[in-house]
Amino acid sequence: MRLVMLGLPAAGKGTQGRLLSERYGIPHVSTGSMFRDAMRAQTDLGRRTRAFIETGELVPDGLAVEIVEERLKKDDCRRGFLLDGFPRTVEQAESLEVTLAKMNISLDAAVNIQISEAEAIRRIANRRVCAQCSSTTQVTPGGAEVCDECGGPLVQRPDDNEETARNRLLVYLAQTQPVVDFYRKRGLLVPVNGLQPVEKVFAQIIQRLSRLDLPKRANGNGRATGITGVMS
Ligand code: AP5
Ligand code: MG
Repeated sequence: MRLVMLGLPAAGKGTQGRLLSERYGIPHVSTGSMFRDAMRAQTDLGRRTRAFIETGELVPDGLAVEIVEERLKKDDCRRGFLLDGFPRTVEQAESLEVTLAKMNISLDAAVNIQISEAEAIRRIANRRVCAQCSSTTQVTPGGAEVCDECGGPLVQRPDDNEETARNRLLVYLAQTQPVVDFYRKRGLLVPVNGLQPVEKVFAQIIQRLSRLDLPKRANGNGRATGITGVMS
């Protein structure tokens, strides 16, 4: 399975990405996580991306395309992959199409998790990430600030403050919404309602993906053909 996850900030791309990656046995490739890891490790990539991430702007296309191309060459992507947070501009989507064509493969679907802007702001304000195991959760006022999974300390992401969050929404609408249309035109869009509990969103994605007419892929090198019946 070769998937792209689309959706507003906090739509649940990471949450569903982790579940789908386990379900299909494919790597979960999150460009946002790769940039945040680089920032924490203070690598050259981290230094070059920090200002963009902290203000909610997109990092330059060239940097995003480069790290994804490198990642897709790794062996674990031979059986498929899930791209979370990429592509984010039409230019990135076009680049990805060219890269995959060179590898003689193509995407199976672009899952678009739909939520409202008000829900995005609410989830961002309440999101905490475990500093130990990186799992993501929602906190309630006065609730515990330790991870349910491992007991580690919960922290806020550097871009989860209100001002940056509002800019991330504007940037999404201006620069990433056209990517939704890009995949709709190609018949690859799988829209799902993200305003449901996590397990219901997951069930809806699985059900819609199971309807795709995918070729059998013994070695992961088959090229996907026409996809129909995915629009809701
Ligand atoms: P990125 O890390 O991709 O952030 P994002 O798109 O803003 O999305 P989020 O990670 O905030 O949300 P999510 O959809 O993953 O939701 P989650 O599952 O965590 O990018 C960050 C930055 O990096 C960008 O602003 C940009 O600067 C840069 N960048 C990254 N990729 C780039 C690229 N390709 N090109 C250029 N720049 C790039 O869930 C959110 C919260 O809601 C969590 O607390 C979760 O527990 C909760 N939740 C999830 N699902 C549900 C549900 N169904 N019901 C209730 N709560 C839920
Ligand atoms: Mg995410």
